[in-house]
Amino acid sequence: MELLIVGALNGQIGAASKIAIAKGGQVTLADSVDKALDIMRSGKAIELVMIDVTLDVYKLISSLNNERINVAVVACGVANDTSLAVKAIKAGAKEYIPLPPDPDLIGAVLAAATRENHALIYGDKKTEAVLKMAKQIAPSDASVLLTGSSGTGKEIFSRFIHDNSKRSSRQFVAVNCAAIPEALLESELFGYEKGAFTGAVARRIGKFEEASGGTLLLDEISEMDISLQAKLLRAIQEKEIDRLGGKAPIKVDTRIIATSNRNLEECVQNGTFRQDLYYRLNVIALNIPDLKDRPDDIIVLAKHFIKKYSEVNELPMRDLSAKASELLLNYLWPGNVRELENTMHRAVLMATGDEIDENAIILNNPNAVKTPAPAQDNAPSQVGQTVANVERKLILDTLESTSWNRTTAAILLGISIRTLRNKLKQYQEEGYNIPSSAQG
Ligand SMILES: Nc1ncnc2c1ncn2[C@@H]1O[C@H](COP(=O)(O)OP(=O)(O)OP(=O)(O)O)[C@@H](O)[C@H]1O
Ligand SMILES: [Mg+2]
Repeated sequence: MELLIVGALNGQIGAASKIAIAKGGQVTLADSVDKALDIMRSGKAIELVMIDVTLDVYKLISSLNNERINVAVVACGVANDTSLAVKAIKAGAKEYIPLPPDPDLIGAVLAAATRENHALIYGDKKTEAVLKMAKQIAPSDASVLLTGSSGTGKEIFSRFIHDNSKRSSRQFVAVNCAAIPEALLESELFGYEKGAFTGAVARRIGKFEEASGGTLLLDEISEMDISLQAKLLRAIQEKEIDRLGGKAPIKVDTRIIATSNRNLEECVQNGTFRQDLYYRLNVIALNIPDLKDRPDDIIVLAKHFIKKYSEVNELPMRDLSAKASELLLNYLWPGNVRELENTMHRAVLMATGDEIDENAIILNNPNAVKTPAPAQDNAPSQVGQTVANVERKLILDTLESTSWNRTTAAILLGISIRTLRNKLKQYQEEGYNIPSSAQG
Protein backbone atom coordinates (compact mmCIF):
# COMPACT_ATOMS: atom_id res chain seq x y z
CA MET A 1 0.00 0.00 0.00
CA GLU A 2 1.22 3.46 -0.88
CA LEU A 3 1.30 5.94 1.95
CA LEU A 4 2.00 9.65 1.65
CA ILE A 5 3.24 11.38 4.79
CA VAL A 6 2.85 15.14 4.76
CA GLY A 7 4.79 17.35 7.17
CA ALA A 8 7.25 16.74 9.97
CA LEU A 9 4.83 14.85 12.26
CA ASN A 10 6.43 16.58 15.23
CA GLY A 11 9.73 14.89 14.46
CA GLN A 12 8.07 11.47 14.35
CA ILE A 13 8.32 10.92 10.58
CA GLY A 14 11.10 8.40 10.94
CA ALA A 15 9.18 6.31 13.46
CA ALA A 16 5.90 6.47 11.53
CA SER A 17 7.58 5.58 8.21
CA LYS A 18 9.44 2.68 9.77
CA ILE A 19 6.25 1.27 11.21
CA ALA A 20 4.40 1.70 7.94
CA ILE A 21 7.19 0.02 5.98
CA ALA A 22 7.36 -2.82 8.50
CA LYS A 23 3.63 -3.33 7.95
CA GLY A 24 4.20 -3.68 4.22
CA GLY A 25 3.53 -0.10 3.20
CA GLN A 26 5.50 2.09 0.80
CA VAL A 27 6.11 5.60 1.95
CA THR A 28 6.44 8.87 0.04
CA LEU A 29 7.22 12.06 1.92
CA ALA A 30 6.08 15.61 1.22
CA ASP A 31 7.04 18.54 3.41
CA SER A 32 4.08 20.72 2.50
CA VAL A 33 0.46 20.51 1.44
CA ASP A 34 1.37 21.90 -2.01
CA LYS A 35 4.03 19.24 -2.58
CA ALA A 36 1.56 16.58 -1.45
CA LEU A 37 -1.02 17.80 -3.94
CA ASP A 38 1.55 17.79 -6.75
CA ILE A 39 2.42 14.18 -5.97
CA MET A 40 -1.22 13.13 -6.10
CA ARG A 41 -1.92 15.06 -9.29
CA SER A 42 0.93 13.22 -11.00
CA GLY A 43 -1.09 10.02 -10.77
CA LYS A 44 0.99 8.27 -8.14
CA ALA A 45 -1.21 5.61 -6.63
CA ILE A 46 -1.45 6.98 -3.10
CA GLU A 47 -3.96 5.03 -1.05
CA LEU A 48 -3.67 6.88 2.25
CA VAL A 49 -2.41 10.30 3.28
CA MET A 50 -1.10 10.95 6.80
CA ILE A 51 -0.84 14.66 7.48
CA ASP A 52 0.72 16.56 10.35
CA VAL A 53 -2.19 18.14 12.16
CA THR A 54 -0.33 21.45 12.47
CA LEU A 55 -0.41 21.85 8.68
CA ASP A 56 -3.41 23.16 6.77
CA VAL A 57 -5.53 19.99 6.80
CA TYR A 58 -8.53 21.91 5.55
CA LYS A 59 -6.63 23.18 2.53
CA LEU A 60 -5.42 19.68 1.66
CA ILE A 61 -8.84 18.07 1.94
CA SER A 62 -10.75 20.83 0.22
CA SER A 63 -8.22 20.86 -2.63
CA LEU A 64 -8.57 17.11 -2.99
CA ASN A 65 -12.34 17.51 -3.06
CA ASN A 66 -12.26 20.39 -5.52
CA GLU A 67 -9.81 18.58 -7.74
CA ARG A 68 -11.84 15.40 -7.51
CA ILE A 69 -9.02 13.33 -6.09
CA ASN A 70 -10.37 10.45 -4.08
CA VAL A 71 -8.06 9.39 -1.24
CA ALA A 72 -8.41 8.83 2.50
CA VAL A 73 -6.70 11.35 4.78
CA VAL A 74 -5.77 10.80 8.42
CA ALA A 75 -4.33 13.50 10.66
CA CYS A 76 -1.51 12.92 13.14
CA GLY A 77 -0.40 15.05 16.07
CA VAL A 78 0.73 14.95 19.65
CA ALA A 79 -2.00 13.69 21.90
CA ASN A 80 -2.65 17.02 23.60
CA ASP A 81 -3.45 18.80 20.33
CA THR A 82 -7.11 18.08 20.95
CA SER A 83 -8.48 21.27 19.43
CA LEU A 84 -6.38 20.67 16.32
CA ALA A 85 -7.59 17.07 16.21
CA VAL A 86 -11.19 18.21 16.28
CA LYS A 87 -10.49 20.76 13.58
CA ALA A 88 -8.87 18.12 11.37
CA ILE A 89 -11.83 15.78 11.71
CA LYS A 90 -14.18 18.65 10.92
CA ALA A 91 -12.09 19.38 7.84
CA GLY A 92 -12.80 15.83 6.68
CA ALA A 93 -9.93 13.73 8.04
CA LYS A 94 -11.03 10.11 8.49
CA GLU A 95 -9.07 9.51 11.69
CA TYR A 96 -6.82 11.21 14.16
CA ILE A 97 -3.68 9.32 15.17
CA PRO A 98 -1.89 10.53 18.28
CA LEU A 99 1.92 10.77 18.26
CA PRO A 100 4.30 9.18 19.04
CA PRO A 101 2.95 6.62 16.60
CA ASP A 102 1.69 3.35 18.02
CA PRO A 103 2.60 0.43 15.73
CA ASP A 104 -0.70 -1.34 16.36
CA LEU A 105 -2.71 1.74 15.58
CA ILE A 106 -0.80 2.45 12.39
CA GLY A 107 -1.10 -1.20 11.41
CA ALA A 108 -4.84 -1.11 12.01
CA VAL A 109 -5.27 2.10 10.01
CA LEU A 110 -3.24 0.73 7.13
CA ALA A 111 -5.16 -2.54 7.18
CA ALA A 112 -8.48 -0.71 7.28
CA ALA A 113 -7.52 1.62 4.46
CA THR A 114 -6.42 -1.21 2.19
CA ARG A 115 -6.07 -4.94 2.06
CA GLU A 116 -2.39 -5.65 2.23
CA ASN A 117 -2.71 -9.39 2.34
CA HIS A 118 -3.15 -10.90 -1.11
CA ALA A 119 -2.49 -14.56 -0.38
CA LEU A 120 -5.16 -16.62 -2.09
CA ILE A 121 -6.04 -19.59 0.09
CA TYR A 122 -8.16 -22.54 -1.00
CA GLY A 123 -8.86 -26.18 -0.32
CA ASP A 124 -11.87 -26.85 -2.50
CA LYS A 125 -11.84 -28.38 -5.96
CA LYS A 126 -14.22 -25.72 -7.26
CA THR A 127 -11.91 -22.90 -6.22
CA GLU A 128 -8.97 -24.78 -7.61
CA ALA A 129 -10.74 -24.99 -10.97
CA VAL A 130 -11.42 -21.23 -11.04
CA LEU A 131 -7.83 -20.57 -10.06
CA LYS A 132 -6.55 -22.81 -12.82
CA MET A 133 -8.62 -20.91 -15.36
CA ALA A 134 -7.46 -17.61 -13.92
CA LYS A 135 -3.84 -18.68 -14.26
CA GLN A 136 -4.40 -19.83 -17.80
CA ILE A 137 -5.99 -16.59 -18.98
CA ALA A 138 -3.74 -14.30 -16.93
CA PRO A 139 -1.01 -13.77 -19.58
CA SER A 140 -3.43 -12.61 -22.28
CA ASP A 141 -4.36 -8.95 -22.53
CA ALA A 142 -8.06 -9.68 -22.95
CA SER A 143 -10.56 -8.07 -20.63
CA VAL A 144 -11.88 -10.23 -17.83
CA LEU A 145 -15.29 -10.15 -16.24
CA LEU A 146 -15.25 -11.57 -12.73
CA THR A 147 -18.61 -12.27 -11.19
CA GLY A 148 -19.53 -13.54 -7.76
CA SER A 149 -21.55 -12.55 -4.73
CA SER A 150 -20.31 -9.96 -2.32
CA GLY A 151 -17.25 -11.07 -0.36
CA THR A 152 -16.43 -14.14 -2.48
CA GLY A 153 -12.94 -12.88 -3.34
CA LYS A 154 -13.32 -10.98 -6.61
CA GLU A 155 -10.65 -8.48 -5.70
CA ILE A 156 -8.19 -11.07 -4.50
CA PHE A 157 -8.73 -13.05 -7.72
CA SER A 158 -8.16 -9.88 -9.76
CA ARG A 159 -4.83 -9.38 -8.05
CA PHE A 160 -4.00 -13.00 -8.69
CA ILE A 161 -4.63 -12.51 -12.42
CA HIS A 162 -2.47 -9.40 -12.44
CA ASP A 163 0.31 -11.08 -10.46
CA ASN A 164 0.33 -13.97 -12.94
CA SER A 165 0.35 -11.77 -16.02
CA LYS A 166 3.19 -10.22 -18.01
CA ARG A 167 2.15 -6.98 -16.41
CA SER A 168 2.90 -8.06 -12.87
CA SER A 169 5.83 -5.69 -12.41
CA ARG A 170 3.61 -2.73 -13.31
CA GLN A 171 0.78 -1.07 -11.45
CA PHE A 172 -2.37 -2.77 -10.30
CA VAL A 173 -4.89 0.02 -9.86
CA ALA A 174 -8.35 -0.51 -8.41
CA VAL A 175 -11.31 1.80 -8.81
CA ASN A 176 -14.55 1.07 -7.03
CA CYS A 177 -17.26 2.41 -9.32
CA ALA A 178 -19.90 2.13 -6.59
CA ALA A 179 -17.93 3.95 -3.89
CA ILE A 180 -16.99 7.02 -5.90
CA PRO A 181 -19.67 9.65 -6.48
CA GLU A 182 -20.79 9.72 -10.10
CA ALA A 183 -19.50 13.23 -10.68
CA LEU A 184 -15.99 12.22 -9.56
CA LEU A 185 -15.73 8.91 -11.35
CA GLU A 186 -15.00 10.33 -14.77
CA SER A 187 -12.07 12.42 -13.57
CA GLU A 188 -10.91 9.57 -11.39
CA LEU A 189 -10.73 7.33 -14.45
CA PHE A 190 -9.59 9.68 -17.17
CA GLY A 191 -7.99 12.63 -15.38
CA TYR A 192 -8.20 16.24 -16.52
CA GLU A 193 -6.22 19.22 -17.72
CA LYS A 194 -5.71 22.37 -15.74
CA GLY A 195 -8.77 24.58 -16.11
CA ALA A 196 -11.13 21.77 -17.16
CA PHE A 197 -13.50 22.89 -14.41
CA THR A 198 -13.45 25.47 -11.62
CA GLY A 199 -11.49 23.36 -9.15
CA ALA A 200 -9.01 22.04 -11.70
CA VAL A 201 -6.00 24.13 -10.71
CA ALA A 202 -3.52 21.63 -12.09
CA ARG A 203 -3.36 18.64 -14.44
CA ARG A 204 -4.46 15.37 -12.91
CA ILE A 205 -3.56 11.94 -14.25
CA GLY A 206 -6.46 9.47 -14.17
CA LYS A 207 -6.41 5.83 -13.10
CA PHE A 208 -6.62 4.55 -16.67
CA GLU A 209 -3.38 6.27 -17.53
CA GLU A 210 -1.81 5.39 -14.23
CA ALA A 211 -2.52 1.72 -14.87
CA SER A 212 -1.09 1.85 -18.40
CA GLY A 213 1.25 -1.10 -18.81
CA GLY A 214 -0.50 -2.71 -15.87
CA THR A 215 -4.02 -3.68 -14.87
CA LEU A 216 -7.06 -1.60 -14.01
CA LEU A 217 -9.66 -3.21 -11.80
CA LEU A 218 -13.09 -1.68 -12.29
CA ASP A 219 -14.95 -2.88 -9.26
CA GLU A 220 -18.76 -3.05 -9.34
CA ILE A 221 -18.91 -1.91 -12.93
CA SER A 222 -22.68 -2.31 -13.05
CA GLU A 223 -22.90 0.87 -10.97
CA MET A 224 -21.22 2.97 -13.65
CA ASP A 225 -23.34 5.64 -15.23
CA ILE A 226 -24.42 4.81 -18.77
CA SER A 227 -22.85 7.92 -20.29
CA LEU A 228 -19.53 7.07 -18.70
CA GLN A 229 -19.88 3.53 -20.04
CA ALA A 230 -19.63 4.99 -23.53
CA LYS A 231 -16.33 6.64 -22.68
CA LEU A 232 -15.05 3.45 -21.12
CA LEU A 233 -15.98 1.48 -24.22
CA ARG A 234 -14.05 3.91 -26.37
CA ALA A 235 -11.03 3.70 -24.07
CA ILE A 236 -11.03 -0.08 -24.32
CA GLN A 237 -11.64 -0.23 -28.07
CA GLU A 238 -9.37 2.56 -29.21
CA LYS A 239 -6.80 2.11 -26.45
CA GLU A 240 -6.84 5.83 -25.89
CA ILE A 241 -8.41 8.15 -23.40
CA ASP A 242 -9.35 11.81 -23.29
CA ARG A 243 -8.47 13.75 -20.21
CA LEU A 244 -11.30 16.09 -19.26
CA GLY A 245 -10.56 19.39 -21.01
CA GLY A 246 -7.74 17.75 -22.97
CA LYS A 247 -6.99 18.67 -26.59
CA ALA A 248 -5.68 15.35 -27.88
CA PRO A 249 -6.33 11.73 -26.93
CA ILE A 250 -3.65 9.85 -25.01
CA LYS A 251 -2.56 6.32 -25.86
CA VAL A 252 -2.93 3.81 -23.06
CA ASP A 253 -2.13 0.13 -22.76
CA THR A 254 -4.33 -0.91 -19.86
CA ARG A 255 -5.74 -4.31 -19.17
CA ILE A 256 -9.23 -4.26 -17.72
CA ILE A 257 -10.64 -6.56 -15.11
CA ALA A 258 -14.23 -5.73 -14.25
CA THR A 259 -16.20 -7.17 -11.37
CA SER A 260 -19.86 -7.28 -10.67
CA ASN A 261 -22.04 -8.91 -8.08
CA ARG A 262 -25.06 -8.23 -10.25
CA ASN A 263 -26.01 -10.20 -13.30
CA LEU A 264 -24.77 -7.94 -16.09
CA GLU A 265 -26.83 -9.71 -18.70
CA GLU A 266 -29.91 -8.66 -16.77
CA CYS A 267 -28.55 -5.12 -16.55
CA VAL A 268 -28.22 -5.15 -20.34
CA GLN A 269 -31.81 -6.31 -20.64
CA ASN A 270 -32.97 -3.59 -18.24
CA GLY A 271 -31.12 -0.99 -20.27
CA THR A 272 -28.79 0.06 -17.46
CA PHE A 273 -25.72 -1.51 -19.03
CA ARG A 274 -24.49 -1.14 -22.59
CA GLN A 275 -24.55 -4.35 -24.52
CA ASP A 276 -21.46 -3.51 -26.58
CA LEU A 277 -19.50 -2.81 -23.41
CA TYR A 278 -20.76 -6.03 -21.90
CA TYR A 279 -19.45 -8.00 -24.88
CA ARG A 280 -16.13 -6.17 -24.69
CA LEU A 281 -15.68 -6.99 -21.02
CA ASN A 282 -17.02 -10.49 -21.22
CA VAL A 283 -14.21 -11.79 -23.47
CA ILE A 284 -13.16 -13.94 -20.54
CA ALA A 285 -15.71 -14.65 -17.84
CA LEU A 286 -14.92 -16.15 -14.48
CA ASN A 287 -17.42 -16.84 -11.75
CA ILE A 288 -16.42 -17.31 -8.13
CA PRO A 289 -18.91 -19.57 -6.36
CA ASP A 290 -20.46 -18.71 -3.01
CA LEU A 291 -18.49 -19.97 -0.05
CA LYS A 292 -21.26 -22.39 0.96
CA ASP A 293 -20.85 -24.11 -2.40
CA ARG A 294 -17.15 -24.76 -1.83
CA PRO A 295 -17.21 -26.27 1.64
CA ASP A 296 -13.64 -27.54 1.52
CA ASP A 297 -12.44 -23.95 1.58
CA ILE A 298 -14.10 -23.14 4.88
CA ILE A 299 -11.74 -24.72 7.39
CA VAL A 300 -8.51 -23.88 5.55
CA LEU A 301 -9.64 -20.28 5.24
CA ALA A 302 -10.72 -20.18 8.88
CA LYS A 303 -7.29 -21.42 9.95
CA HIS A 304 -5.60 -18.91 7.66
CA PHE A 305 -7.56 -16.07 9.26
CA ILE A 306 -6.85 -17.38 12.77
CA LYS A 307 -3.15 -17.22 11.96
CA LYS A 308 -3.45 -13.78 10.38
CA TYR A 309 -5.34 -12.22 13.27
CA SER A 310 -3.35 -13.97 15.98
CA GLU A 311 -0.26 -12.38 14.46
CA VAL A 312 -1.84 -8.96 14.05
CA ASN A 313 -3.02 -8.99 17.66
CA GLU A 314 0.14 -10.66 18.98
CA LEU A 315 -1.82 -13.55 20.42
CA PRO A 316 -0.65 -17.16 20.52
CA MET A 317 -1.71 -19.28 17.55
CA ARG A 318 -4.55 -21.62 18.59
CA ASP A 319 -6.29 -24.53 16.93
CA LEU A 320 -9.92 -24.67 15.96
CA SER A 321 -11.96 -27.09 18.07
CA ALA A 322 -13.99 -29.84 16.42
CA LYS A 323 -17.28 -28.31 17.50
CA ALA A 324 -16.23 -24.90 16.23
CA SER A 325 -15.31 -26.46 12.87
CA GLU A 326 -18.69 -28.12 12.71
CA LEU A 327 -20.41 -24.83 13.35
CA LEU A 328 -18.46 -23.18 10.54
CA LEU A 329 -19.22 -26.01 8.14
CA ASN A 330 -22.94 -25.91 8.86
CA TYR A 331 -23.30 -22.20 8.31
CA LEU A 332 -24.41 -20.78 4.97
CA TRP A 333 -22.07 -17.75 4.97
CA PRO A 334 -24.34 -15.17 3.34
CA GLY A 335 -21.42 -12.71 3.47
CA ASN A 336 -19.01 -15.31 2.04
CA VAL A 337 -15.27 -15.11 2.74
CA ARG A 338 -15.45 -11.59 4.09
CA GLU A 339 -17.94 -12.72 6.72
CA LEU A 340 -15.77 -15.73 7.57
CA GLU A 341 -12.77 -13.44 7.93
CA ASN A 342 -14.64 -11.11 10.29
CA THR A 343 -16.01 -14.05 12.26
CA MET A 344 -12.55 -15.54 12.73
CA HIS A 345 -11.06 -12.18 13.63
CA ARG A 346 -13.71 -11.88 16.34
CA ALA A 347 -13.14 -15.48 17.43
CA VAL A 348 -9.41 -14.91 17.85
CA LEU A 349 -10.16 -12.01 20.17
CA MET A 350 -12.98 -13.77 22.03
CA ALA A 351 -11.45 -17.21 22.64
CA THR A 352 -10.30 -17.83 26.17
CA GLY A 353 -8.96 -21.40 26.31
CA ASP A 354 -6.09 -22.99 24.42
CA GLU A 355 -8.41 -23.79 21.53
CA ILE A 356 -10.77 -21.59 19.57
CA ASP A 357 -14.03 -23.26 20.52
CA GLU A 358 -17.63 -22.85 19.47
CA ASN A 359 -18.28 -20.20 22.16
CA ALA A 360 -15.91 -17.84 20.39
CA ILE A 361 -17.73 -18.24 17.06
CA ILE A 362 -20.41 -15.61 16.80
CA LEU A 363 -22.35 -15.91 13.58
CA ASN A 364 -24.05 -12.85 12.12
CA ASN A 365 -27.14 -14.77 11.23
CA PRO A 366 -27.33 -17.99 13.28
CA ASN A 367 -30.46 -19.08 11.43
CA ALA A 368 -28.62 -19.34 8.13
CA VAL A 369 -27.61 -22.97 8.57
CA LYS A 370 -27.64 -25.95 6.27
CA THR A 371 -30.53 -28.34 6.60
CA PRO A 372 -29.38 -31.94 6.40
CA ALA A 373 -29.57 -32.97 2.77
CA PRO A 374 -29.94 -36.49 1.41
CA ALA A 375 -26.62 -38.16 0.81
CA GLN A 376 -25.29 -37.40 -2.67
CA ASP A 377 -23.09 -39.30 -5.06
CA ASN A 378 -20.41 -36.68 -4.84
CA ALA A 379 -20.29 -36.15 -1.12
CA PRO A 380 -17.95 -33.29 -0.20
CA SER A 381 -14.66 -34.22 1.40
CA GLN A 382 -14.85 -34.49 5.16
CA VAL A 383 -11.25 -33.69 5.91
CA GLY A 384 -11.04 -31.71 9.12
CA GLN A 385 -14.05 -33.35 10.80
CA THR A 386 -14.08 -35.95 13.52
CA VAL A 387 -15.25 -39.50 12.83
CA ALA A 388 -18.10 -39.00 15.31
CA ASN A 389 -19.33 -35.92 13.45
CA VAL A 390 -19.20 -37.59 10.07
CA GLU A 391 -20.93 -40.66 11.45
CA ARG A 392 -23.72 -38.64 13.00
CA LYS A 393 -24.22 -36.62 9.84
CA LEU A 394 -24.34 -39.79 7.74
CA ILE A 395 -26.84 -41.44 10.06
CA LEU A 396 -29.12 -38.41 10.28
CA ASP A 397 -28.92 -37.70 6.55
CA THR A 398 -29.81 -41.30 5.79
CA LEU A 399 -32.74 -41.22 8.20
CA GLU A 400 -33.97 -38.04 6.65
CA SER A 401 -33.89 -39.65 3.22
CA THR A 402 -35.93 -42.61 4.52
CA SER A 403 -38.48 -40.32 6.20
CA TRP A 404 -37.04 -41.47 9.52
CA ASN A 405 -37.80 -45.12 8.87
CA ARG A 406 -35.23 -46.77 11.12
CA THR A 407 -35.37 -50.26 9.60
CA THR A 408 -34.69 -49.01 6.07
CA ALA A 409 -32.01 -46.65 7.33
CA ALA A 410 -30.23 -49.42 9.24
CA ILE A 411 -30.18 -51.57 6.09
CA LEU A 412 -28.82 -48.66 4.01
CA LEU A 413 -26.20 -47.91 6.63
CA GLY A 414 -25.19 -51.55 6.98
CA ILE A 415 -25.64 -51.56 10.75
CA SER A 416 -28.05 -53.41 13.03
CA ILE A 417 -31.28 -51.75 14.05
CA ARG A 418 -30.11 -52.08 17.65
CA THR A 419 -26.89 -50.12 16.97
CA LEU A 420 -28.92 -47.47 15.17
CA ARG A 421 -31.32 -47.14 18.11
CA ASN A 422 -28.44 -46.77 20.54
CA LYS A 423 -26.86 -44.07 18.41
CA LEU A 424 -30.13 -42.18 18.14
CA LYS A 425 -30.63 -42.36 21.88
CA GLN A 426 -27.15 -40.90 22.34
CA TYR A 427 -27.82 -38.07 19.86
CA GLN A 428 -31.06 -37.29 21.59
CA GLU A 429 -29.22 -37.01 24.91
CA GLU A 430 -26.72 -34.69 23.25
CA GLY A 431 -29.62 -32.43 22.32
CA TYR A 432 -30.29 -33.40 18.69
CA ASN A 433 -33.87 -33.46 17.57
CA ILE A 434 -34.73 -37.00 16.45
CA PRO A 435 -38.24 -37.28 14.98
CA SER A 436 -40.02 -40.56 15.53
CA SER A 437 -41.44 -42.40 12.53
CA ALA A 438 -44.71 -44.15 11.88
CA GLN A 439 -43.04 -47.43 11.00
CA GLY A 440 -39.70 -48.95 11.88
N1 LIG B 1 -9.36 -17.32 -1.24
C1 LIG B 1 -9.08 -16.37 -0.34
N2 LIG B 1 -7.97 -16.46 0.43
C2 LIG B 1 -7.68 -15.54 1.36
N3 LIG B 1 -8.46 -14.46 1.60
C3 LIG B 1 -9.57 -14.32 0.88
C4 LIG B 1 -9.94 -15.26 -0.13
N4 LIG B 1 -11.10 -14.87 -0.69
C5 LIG B 1 -11.44 -13.73 -0.07
N5 LIG B 1 -10.53 -13.38 0.88
C6 LIG B 1 -10.59 -12.23 1.78
O1 LIG B 1 -11.95 -11.95 2.02
C7 LIG B 1 -12.24 -10.58 1.92
C8 LIG B 1 -13.22 -10.34 0.79
O2 LIG B 1 -12.58 -10.62 -0.46
P1 LIG B 1 -12.67 -9.62 -1.70
O3 LIG B 1 -12.56 -8.21 -1.25
O4 LIG B 1 -11.70 -10.07 -2.73
O5 LIG B 1 -14.16 -9.95 -2.14
P2 LIG B 1 -15.09 -9.25 -3.22
O6 LIG B 1 -15.75 -10.33 -3.97
O7 LIG B 1 -14.28 -8.25 -3.99
O8 LIG B 1 -16.15 -8.53 -2.28
P3 LIG B 1 -17.16 -7.32 -2.68
O9 LIG B 1 -18.16 -7.87 -3.62
O10 LIG B 1 -17.79 -6.98 -1.37
O11 LIG B 1 -16.33 -6.24 -3.25
C9 LIG B 1 -10.90 -9.89 1.72
O12 LIG B 1 -10.38 -9.47 2.96
C10 LIG B 1 -10.03 -10.98 1.12
O13 LIG B 1 -8.69 -10.78 1.46
MG1 LIG C 1 -14.53 -6.17 -4.11
